[in-house]
Amino acid sequence: MTTQQTITKLADDLNINRIYARHVFHIADKEQLFEDASRIVSEKPKPFVKWVGGKRQLLKQFREMGLYPPDDFNPLTNTYFEPFVGGGAVFFDLLPKKAELSDLNNELTTTYNVIKTDVDSLIKSLKKHKYEKEYYLKIRAKNPKKLSDVEVASRFIFLNRTGFNGMYRVNSKGGFNVPFGKYTNPIICDEENLRKVSKVLQKVTVKEQDYKAVLKKAKKGDFVYFDPPYYPVSRTASFTSYTADSFLEKEQTELRDTFVELHKRGCFVMLSNSDTPFINELYSGIKGVKVSKVSAGRSINSNAAKRGKINEVLVTNY
Ligand SMILES: C[S@@+](CC[C@H](N)C(=O)[O-])C[C@H]1O[C@@H](n2cnc3c(N)ncnc32)[C@H](O)[C@@H]1O
Repeated sequence: MTTQQTITKLADDLNINRIYARHVFHIADKEQLFEDASRIVSEKPKPFVKWVGGKRQLLKQFREMGLYPPDDFNPLTNTYFEPFVGGGAVFFDLLPKKAELSDLNNELTTTYNVIKTDVDSLIKSLKKHKYEKEYYLKIRAKNPKKLSDVEVASRFIFLNRTGFNGMYRVNSKGGFNVPFGKYTNPIICDEENLRKVSKVLQKVTVKEQDYKAVLKKAKKGDFVYFDPPYYPVSRTASFTSYTADSFLEKEQTELRDTFVELHKRGCFVMLSNSDTPFINELYSGIKGVKVSKVSAGRSINSNAAKRGKINEVLVTNY
């Protein structure tokens, strides 16, 4: 088998993407390649927060459809950008050497940076939390603007792990208002994973900024993945309150313009959104841009009875 064939086999057998498979191939013990590669994959860091809209379950489908990762993206020379990073499912799947992650949610980006620079203090603080409703409400009531960065990160992870459905929702004044969640034994401090995440973030930048800032940095050959707040399937099903701002027609249109600008520049661009007439129309008729349908077996409705399969689109320019 050639190296390339071995990498493809590793990717197929271990259910991983080709870029990560190449990395695994290079670091694995060649004497027992598959055993060692499968150990490396099982020890891979995972997203440290649950995030509505997380892409983990969909990545396999993207791969099987041949839409991810882009064949010609070279992670050794080029950069991966994820400007709506959220839980970072695609970043953690790809684990590229050079990456720039960003999001408008300040508490989230602060948490990434605390994990990167002061994981010991964070772990120490996380270990002090208790899974109790009254305690949860006390922590929830704190104003993150008055806390240190480590305290912000510790509160953010605690609320994510113990709040209802791992949701992030704020009221019009920016106050976190997700109710206490019922779990059997929620893991508040996953020390091992946090240390692995800290390690992979060492060469990665994480910033609080609007997605449009990607236009200042991305160059030809870079790979940009947009996972914006989705355009609502119906107004009642709308779930766009990740931040206090909404993301409707005007914002979606501006995002499409940003996509087209990066496309013209020669970046590899991939974007997720809801499968609605508005989004299909927005990305139709652009030369070199393809809209593919994917079926997401997930739900964003907190009422189980109203949960249905949501269809999504994946827009790509390669
Ligand atoms: C659908 S979620 C991303 C989910 C993520 N890909 C994952 O796998 O967990 C959308 C994210 O966009 C962020 N966001 C909303 N408006 C933004 C903007 N204008 N610029 C950058 N990020 C924004 C939200 O804070 C939220 O984290």
